[in-house]
Amino acid sequence: MAYTEPSETPVEIDTGTAYGMATPTFDPELIEVEAGTPTGEMLRRYWHPFAVAADATDVPKPVRILGEDLILFRDGQGRPGLVHPRCCHRGTTLYYGKVEDDGIRCCYHGWLFDVEGHCLDMPVESGRGQHRDRYRQPWYPVHEYHGMIFAYLGPPEHKPPFPTYDIFDDVPDGWHIVADDNNIGLEGDPTPCNWFQTHENVMDPFHVFVLHAGFSGNQFVAEMAGLPEVSWHFTDHGVKSHQDRVLDDGRFFHRVTEVLVPNVRIVASPFVEFNGPAASVAWTLPISRTETKIFTLMKRPLDAPLPRALYDGKRWGELTEAEHQRFPGDYEAQVGQGAITWHSEERLAGSDRGVSMFRTAFKRVLHAVAAGEPAPTPGHYAVKAGNYIGDRDEVIHLGE
Ligand code: FES
Ligand SMILES: [Fe+2]
Repeated sequence: MAYTEPSETPVEIDTGTAYGMATPTFDPELIEVEAGTPTGEMLRRYWHPFAVAADATDVPKPVRILGEDLILFRDGQGRPGLVHPRCCHRGTTLYYGKVEDDGIRCCYHGWLFDVEGHCLDMPVESGRGQHRDRYRQPWYPVHEYHGMIFAYLGPPEHKPPFPTYDIFDDVPDGWHIVADDNNIGLEGDPTPCNWFQTHENVMDPFHVFVLHAGFSGNQFVAEMAGLPEVSWHFTDHGVKSHQDRVLDDGRFFHRVTEVLVPNVRIVASPFVEFNGPAASVAWTLPISRTETKIFTLMKRPLDAPLPRALYDGKRWGELTEAEHQRFPGDYEAQVGQGAITWHSEERLAGSDRGVSMFRTAFKRVLHAVAAGEPAPTPGHYAVKAGNYIGDRDEVIHLGE
């Protein structure tokens, strides 16, 4: 080999390699859900859906909400009950309890508890428990609303009135309200990542243009495919985005999407089934720090099947692993951020403004509650979100 003179030019050192990356961290204020943490306590000032009505039966069902394991049942009088799993006598689980007309009976020594934990019977104590009113199985209040079961896991003295939504005030003839616990892609199982990264995605309309309308083909409909003009706005209870497009037929499509602190998401159908206010409200439930589930109430025509996103013409559960790679959707993108996303490694850009604004709105409430102020709740909420399509001047101000 011919001899070459060593170069006089200094060797260029590579930069930006992954070598020596700092250990990533997350923002605990955004991800904690457990009782005793500031965010876990703030979340416990709100009602959360955790089951559909059909989940509460005479067979005790284990559920997890905000990191707490609990037992759901429905007594013979039709009342749902949500109790701590470990019996207040000697601690066996009520998972093996027997549901009766007026409560759930522990399998071990037969203590019977009603849906509010009152002990009604102690069959092997004298007088079947002369002092049974001294014992109470730890329980939580529940509320059924349009086929969805909600729980309040917070301090009893701060229990808010149950909030309702104006779009469910009137259900036209031939329509009904469906309670759905489908997840992003999954059918019923929890999504294995922190709830906040799933929830803030609602204020990220630009991912629709890339992930849902281009990268993986069009997963929704043609009306949703164009690059929108986007603006974000704080509201009394959170943040909303406006996404404006001119459709191929010349009509103006003013789409409004909103999130309410802490975990309500009001998103009009991405299949653009209805022109007008959104017909659904959904909640992003933190099951635990690393498990999430979305519960949705939808007002729909009786004969309209639930639309599901298609990935190269298939349902999410039908995809092979390689197809998941070629046609990713929300599940892949959000679980791909890790079980808990790395806030320290993010590089937020202009298109992330809605995400930043929602974090700000969330932390405002978090800090207020931590300082002893009440958690704001909407009472009866006037929904702003919708698909508003028509003449620009007529639709641009809808959802204000
Ligand atoms: S442990 Fe439940 S009745 Fe004894
Ligand atoms: Fe999405």
